[in-house]
Amino acid sequence: MIGGFVRDLLLGRPCKDIDITVLGDGIESAQAVARSLGLSHPVNVFKNFGTAMFHFEGYDVEFVGARKESYRSESRKPDVKAGTLSDDQNRRDFTINALAISLNHDDFGSLTDPFNGITDLNAGIIRTPLDPAITYSDDPLRMLRAIRFAAQLGFEIEEKSFHAIREQKERIRIISMERVSEELNKMLLASKPSVGFLLLRETQLLPIIFPEFAALEGVDTVQGRSHKDNFFHTLEVLDNLAANSENLWLRWAAVLHDIAKPGTKRYEPGQGWTFHGHEDKGARMVPRIFRDLKLPLNEKMKYVQKLVLLHLRPIVLAKSEVTDSAVRRLLFEAGDDIDDLMCLCAADVTTKNEFKQRKYRSNFELVKQKLKEVEEKDRVRNWQPPVTGELIMETFGLSPCREIGIIKNVIREAILDGNIPNSFEPAFGLMLQQGALLGLKPVKNSD
Ligand code: CTP
Repeated sequence: MIGGFVRDLLLGRPCKDIDITVLGDGIESAQAVARSLGLSHPVNVFKNFGTAMFHFEGYDVEFVGARKESYRSESRKPDVKAGTLSDDQNRRDFTINALAISLNHDDFGSLTDPFNGITDLNAGIIRTPLDPAITYSDDPLRMLRAIRFAAQLGFEIEEKSFHAIREQKERIRIISMERVSEELNKMLLASKPSVGFLLLRETQLLPIIFPEFAALEGVDTVQGRSHKDNFFHTLEVLDNLAANSENLWLRWAAVLHDIAKPGTKRYEPGQGWTFHGHEDKGARMVPRIFRDLKLPLNEKMKYVQKLVLLHLRPIVLAKSEVTDSAVRRLLFEAGDDIDDLMCLCAADVTTKNEFKQRKYRSNFELVKQKLKEVEEKDRVRNWQPPVTGELIMETFGLSPCREIGIIKNVIREAILDGNIPNSFEPAFGLMLQQGALLGLKPVKNSD
C-alpha cells in the first residue's frame, strides 16, 4: 500500500483511494484479490497503463506493478519499465508520498520509508526524494502539487524545492490546463486558500497559469493618493469567505469579483481612484477565463458570472437608505443565490477601520432583515410572471409579436417598483391598460 493513502492514514485524514504496488503484474494481482474477496462486480482493467482497480467497501483499490520510469524533456509521458519497490519509491514526487506499508504475510503492516518521509510528515515539510531539479523536470505538474499540498496540509515547501520550482516555472506550460485547474480547485478548497496563491505568486507560476489574477497586484499613486492592492485584497476576501463557505464556485466568485479592476482603473481628480463598471466588465470576462482554465462552461460558470456582476449591490444597499424596491430588484436578480451573494459581500468588507466595519455589519443585518421581509411579502425570488405570454396572446388574439414582450416588461417593472402587488388581479388589470395604450382590444370577456 503506497503513496497518498499511507500519507493520509498517518495524518489521520480521510482517503478513499488505496494504491497498491505489487512486484509483478498489477492486473493479475487485482483479479486474484477480487476473486479471493468474492467480489460480484467486475475489475476495471486499464491494459495500456498496466493497472486495474475495483471498488470495495467504499474504497477504490488500484493495483499497479512496481515501475521504474524515465522521462523525456518535452513530455510528461514517461518510458515505463518494471522495477523494484525501491525504484518505484524513487520515482515519486515527495518524501511524504513515497511511504509504503507492507500487505505481505511475513511483514504485514511494516513501513518502508526510504527518504525519511515520517520525519517530514511530522515536521510539515514538502521535500522531493531526489534532487528537486530532476523530480520537477520529470513531471512539472509536481510544482503545483507541492504548492497544493502546502496549502492543503499547512506544510512548508523545503527551500531547495522552492528554488527549483522558481527556476523551472516555464516548464509548467507543458501541463494541460485541465490538470492545472484541478490543482487550483484543490488549493481553493483548502481552509486558508490564500496560502496556495501566495506561493504561486512567490514562485512566479501565477502569471503563467492565471495572468488575470496576477495582474491584480500593484498600487498606483497619483497626487499622493493610492488605491488598495487588489491582489492582496482578493486573497483576504477569499480567506474570509472560506471561513464561512465550502462552496468551490462561491470561492471562484471571490477570486474573480474584482478581476476587471486593472482594466477599469482611472484616477479622477477630485474623486481619487475609481473602478467604474468593474463588476460588469468582470462578469463579461468570466466565460473567457473559465474557457482558458478549462473550467466547466455550464451553470457553474453562469453562477460565478452572476455573483461577480451583483457583488457590489448589497454593499451599495447597505451604504444608502434601504428601499423596498431596491431590495425587491436585488432578490429578483439574485434569485436562489441571494444568500451566497450576501456571504460574498460580507467577505468583501476588509476595511481595518473598526468604526466602518461596525457600520457595514449593522447595515448588512438591516439588508438581510429587509430581504426577508420583502420576500415574505412579495415572493419575487425565482419570480414567475403572474400574467403569462400565453394569456396575453389569448386575451388580445395575438400570435407571437413584440407587444407581448412590452406588456410583460411593464408588468415586471411595476411589480419590482412596488406600483402593483405581485398577484394576478392587478397584473391582469395592468395588462388590459397597457394593451389599450398599444391599440389592442381584448377578443373575449376579460373574466
Ligand atoms: N505521484 C507522483 N507524481 C505525480 C502524481 C502522483 O509521484 N505527479 C505519486 C505520489 O506518490 C502520490 C501517488 O502517485 O502519492 C498517487 O497520486 P494521486 O492519487 O494523484 O495523489 P495523492 O498523493 O494520492 O493525493 P490526492 O489524492 O490528494 O491528489
